Amino acid sequence: MKDTYDIAVVHGDGIGPEVCAAAVTVLRAAFGASSPLRFAEYPAGAEHYRLTGESFPKTSFEACRAADAILHGAAGIPGINHPDGTEAGLDFTLRLRFELDLFANIRPIRLLPGVRSPLRDVKAGDIDYVIVRENSEGLYSARGSGALLRSEVAVDTLVQTRKGIERCVRKAFELSRASNGAPSDGVRRVTCCDKANVLRSYAFFRAVFDEVARDDPDIASEHVLVDAMTMHQVLRPAHFNVIVTENMFGDIISDLGAATIGGVGLAPSAETGNDRGLFQASHGSAPDIAGKGVANPYGTILSAAEMLSWLGKTHEDVRLTEVAKRLQHSVSQTLPTCYLSHDLGGTTSTAEIVGQLCDTI
Ligand code: IPM
Ligand code: MN
Repeated sequence: MKDTYDIAVVHGDGIGPEVCAAAVTVLRAAFGASSPLRFAEYPAGAEHYRLTGESFPKTSFEACRAADAILHGAAGIPGINHPDGTEAGLDFTLRLRFELDLFANIRPIRLLPGVRSPLRDVKAGDIDYVIVRENSEGLYSARGSGALLRSEVAVDTLVQTRKGIERCVRKAFELSRASNGAPSDGVRRVTCCDKANVLRSYAFFRAVFDEVARDDPDIASEHVLVDAMTMHQVLRPAHFNVIVTENMFGDIISDLGAATIGGVGLAPSAETGNDRGLFQASHGSAPDIAGKGVANPYGTILSAAEMLSWLGKTHEDVRLTEVAKRLQHSVSQTLPTCYLSHDLGGTTSTAEIVGQLCDTI
């Protein structure tokens, strides 16, 4: 336990600053005058790149590395690109993942009360699983290093290591063990999502998964191919408890999962390594609605709650775990009282949602 925790706050682009400020306001309200959190803001993102030629200044990177946790809004503006055509605003997230070794991207997919799923006949509690997305290798490890030959041939390489797969799969089993199991049958179950029938790298992922699964025989394990997985997430989401998968697949199936629980605006994430963590919603910077006061802040606020539970667990500090629970509770009390943002079919502004959460926490 520490007296204070340094939180590096990086707003980013588009709606990033609005949702990030919303989360900080709610955190301040939750802790009151005796807050153990110390916030400091640092620049990064596409707009910063446009202005200065740097997407992620060294001082910001060092501050993130030194902080106890990093809270982020969202970054990236389509069209603000590196010479190779990739988006400059994404450097922030991607560099932190690789350089701080944030190997497990934990993405809870939970249908909360008051939110209408686009799926028929599902109610709050029926969808409640976690995607563990391998976050430090896979296809994304080619970022910045793929080859482009004569403007004719482009190559990106998918990398999977035994260590990388193993630590992520262990995290998945750990999360399953601590959970109540799948909503449909209460079974603690870890699903390996891969494409082992076609590619060697995914067959390797599956083989390492099976080795790790043998150490936890009391937790059910299974394999689902990624194409079938997209179908199951729509047709029988209640079957799942924890899903573990390669980086790129995790990116895709987490947006699909988010759609089933009301959209990416409600989906938090916790990108964690052994002693570092980055917390941001699963959504992007939505420049089309930026500055209008209508952005959905719930995803970032729920990510802030994930940050508190991770910090609380890492530092054995119940002050933080207790506020994390209060924050989650307050979100699930607020949503059913029609505090729905525009993306959720409501008319409530970002400020009204923040006000309500601050009053009720
Ligand atoms: C996500 C985002 C990122 C990704 C971007 C911001 C680099 O889509 O966290 O899911 O592609 O992983
Ligand atoms: Mn994504």
